[in-house]
Amino acid sequence: MANKKLTIIGATGFLSTTITRQLVNDGVTVRVVARNPENAKKILPDSVEIVGGDVSDKQSLITALKGTDALYIHLNTETTDMNLPFYTEREGVQNIVEAAKANKVKHIMQIAGLESLHDDFFLNGTIETREIREAGMKLIEDSGIPYTFFYCSFFADSFIRFVDNNALYLFGDLPHKIFFTNSFQLARHIHQAIENPRALNQKYPVQGHEAMTFQEATQRFFMIYDPEVSVQKLPLETVNELGLPATEAAFLRRIWEVCGGLDERFVSAETYEHLGQPLAGIDELARQIKNS
Ligand SMILES: NC(=O)c1ccc[n+]([C@@H]2O[C@H](COP(=O)([O-])OP(=O)(O)OC[C@H]3O[C@@H](n4cnc5c(N)ncnc54)[C@H](OP(=O)(O)O)[C@@H]3O)[C@@H](O)[C@H]2O)c1
Repeated sequence: MANKKLTIIGATGFLSTTITRQLVNDGVTVRVVARNPENAKKILPDSVEIVGGDVSDKQSLITALKGTDALYIHLNTETTDMNLPFYTEREGVQNIVEAAKANKVKHIMQIAGLESLHDDFFLNGTIETREIREAGMKLIEDSGIPYTFFYCSFFADSFIRFVDNNALYLFGDLPHKIFFTNSFQLARHIHQAIENPRALNQKYPVQGHEAMTFQEATQRFFMIYDPEVSVQKLPLETVNELGLPATEAAFLRRIWEVCGGLDERFVSAETYEHLGQPLAGIDELARQIKNS
């Protein structure tokens, strides 16, 4: 059987680099659209075809998406400013949709957050920028191109981003158990969704199979990834003492506040049934990242 093929926009990010590598390991033929192809070449596997393209430049996307059947969009919006003239996940996605239509793309997949499917799980409210991403996703839905949206829980991969000087800092009160997901789980679901009629026009929650508090999950992760790292809990207000620019500190504070209110139920049984069980839990994730 011929390899499945996928074009990815946003493959050079923190999570998406691992997702892209895993898709390649699983035998998917991957093309990446990157605004900085030289950088993409350095960090992605040699077998990935890299083409230049910027989501703010529709013409570049029309060229980059030639011959694409299945497309995965992995962009991000990290700001508290709701009044910018351009967001990759809204105006950028509008350009992608128009370029996809021009190229008769058959299937668009995209990453999203669990809050867009289950804001009932978020007792302290959700990140304001979800509105921007949701407006972009509405454009995909309205385009008539079949879609698959992945509404992901918290990625355990992100733990290593919070490490400083052999300590991982958790901010605020984090009392609830969360079904942490990871980049390997999402890569497997994306792989299974390509050329899968059952996955068309579906909105899948993506959660791991085990519920844990932040404290439990980070302790388990670092026991394998790096036992030298200790997990420290700090009051939410101490985010202000990190010396970050005011807007970055505000965004980070809001993220931790939202995490403190995240109280999930398991709602991913259908995702597993359609796209397979996750193969890597938190321990396997820690092992894989450590060895990579
Ligand atoms: N962290 C979590 O726990 C969690 C939970 C649920 C969902 N998510 C979702 O995960 C996503 C974030 O993943 P991440 O951390 O991997 O993102 P990231 O590191 O911010 O990566 C963003 C990607 O977008 C690309 N990009 C930015 N501007 C572009 C442009 N104008 N044209 C083309 N490409 C452009 C970047 O390319 P460059 O390399 O050129 O910058 C990069 O590849 C978000 O959608 C978030 O909602 C995260």
